[in-house]
Amino acid sequence: MNFHILTLFPEMIDEAMNKSIIGRAIENNTISLETVNIRDFSTNKHKKVDDYTYGGGAGMLMQAQPVYDAWMSVNEKVSSNSDGNSKSQKVRTIYVTPQGTPFNQNMAKDFSKEENLVIICGHYEGIDERVLEETVTDYVSIGDYVLTGGELAAMIIVDAVSRLVPGVLHNDISAETESFHNNLLEYPQYSRPKVWMEKEVPQVLLTGDSKKIAEWRLQESVKRTKERRMDLYEKYEELQKCKAVMLKQKLIHIDMIELINRGRAELIYLKDNEILLKDLLSDVYFHTDLSDEAHEKILEGMPEYELDKIKCLVIHQNENVGKIQKLIRLNDVVECYQAVYTLKEKLAVSSLYNVDNSPTKDGLVIKPVELSDYEKVKSNYKSYDGIEYVERRLSEGAFTGAYVNGKLAGFIGRHGEGSIGMLCVLPEYRNKKIAMALETYLINKELEEGMIPYGQVCLDNVPSLNLQKKLGLYMSKKSIFWLSE
Ligand code: ADE
Repeated sequence: MNFHILTLFPEMIDEAMNKSIIGRAIENNTISLETVNIRDFSTNKHKKVDDYTYGGGAGMLMQAQPVYDAWMSVNEKVSSNSDGNSKSQKVRTIYVTPQGTPFNQNMAKDFSKEENLVIICGHYEGIDERVLEETVTDYVSIGDYVLTGGELAAMIIVDAVSRLVPGVLHNDISAETESFHNNLLEYPQYSRPKVWMEKEVPQVLLTGDSKKIAEWRLQESVKRTKERRMDLYEKYEELQKCKAVMLKQKLIHIDMIELINRGRAELIYLKDNEILLKDLLSDVYFHTDLSDEAHEKILEGMPEYELDKIKCLVIHQNENVGKIQKLIRLNDVVECYQAVYTLKEKLAVSSLYNVDNSPTKDGLVIKPVELSDYEKVKSNYKSYDGIEYVERRLSEGAFTGAYVNGKLAGFIGRHGEGSIGMLCVLPEYRNKKIAMALETYLINKELEEGMIPYGQVCLDNVPSLNLQKKLGLYMSKKSIFWLSE
């Protein structure tokens, strides 16, 4: 990912951003950060970039021409087709301003999908409106206060976006699975010494009882959120209500329940038992559809802007897929069961693989799929979602491989919305319990991360249905439907 920052003070950014995690990511080319000095594009002989405001008013305004030429220098560079022709398309361009949309994690995730991101920093009283109209795609504020210039805001955005770029944090999937703590603030934390200024560390943290510690932390998080952020607390309460409804039919709703548990659910609509959630990280929508007329009401609860954005909708227990399809033009349908691992205890690994990562007697090691094997994954896994989806999940570090004597023998992945899937064993390695080893590994890893492991199995995938049974996963009695374009 490449950041391009248009500024009058490039040294401010260059000096601050070459440190720590971001500095390292720049150094090893995981991201790049280019500062473009707007003053270099002034056609004025004194390199002036500002002038008085028409209509009067205090202060100076940055003029359109130098900002536009600075922006064009980047846009022309990054918006060329591979054949060298310039596209009319605008590069994603943020103008940081207190009048923008408040910046949040969701926006950071959205920006992190771009290959190039331009950020324009204003100074003085702002920038001539006409150049903003020509160049800007997103107006972003970092909070309800006014800074002397946009540089600090730009750096905050670069930092929050960069840590979501695969490779920057070195453990790609953890940036993705790291939750927003269910809309809750972090609980208080303590380090040594046990007593400081006569204040003691809470007793429960010294017990080693992980269940009790988790309960205490949750309770403290809830308390703190209620005291400090009523807005977040209300969202938390509402989602807990949704969860209580869905727990009545846990297996069929496990995907929605886990969205809430993992802190990545946005509530779009809630009325009686009908719930529409959006996954904050993947643009997939989920609908409970527990009532007969729900398929019509789904539109009622959908903000208009959301409707056009729906590329994928998961419907539960629906006998009326056709009707919904007519309402929101999603032509592809995949029907599957939910497979859920409901126990808290890890699966027995026994002789499947070695937990210390050493090879088994058959030479098997489970580890992230290596870059050099990405092509093998792409040619062996035929995804309903197309090759681009597999490519993206590979680059996001979502695949775990089974290696036999150093060669890729099979793989499993985690889908964008959080379910386990994409399991495949290469033909020459079948019937050696490799699928079982891979799924056991991922289930145990998810349990360690506090998740309820689940996946979806197509109705006719008999080998997978058998594997789920053998591993002790429960299958939902009814099926669910994935609708997509
Ligand atoms: N420039 C000045 N103040 C700002 C703010 N609060 N957010 C983004 N950009 C700014």
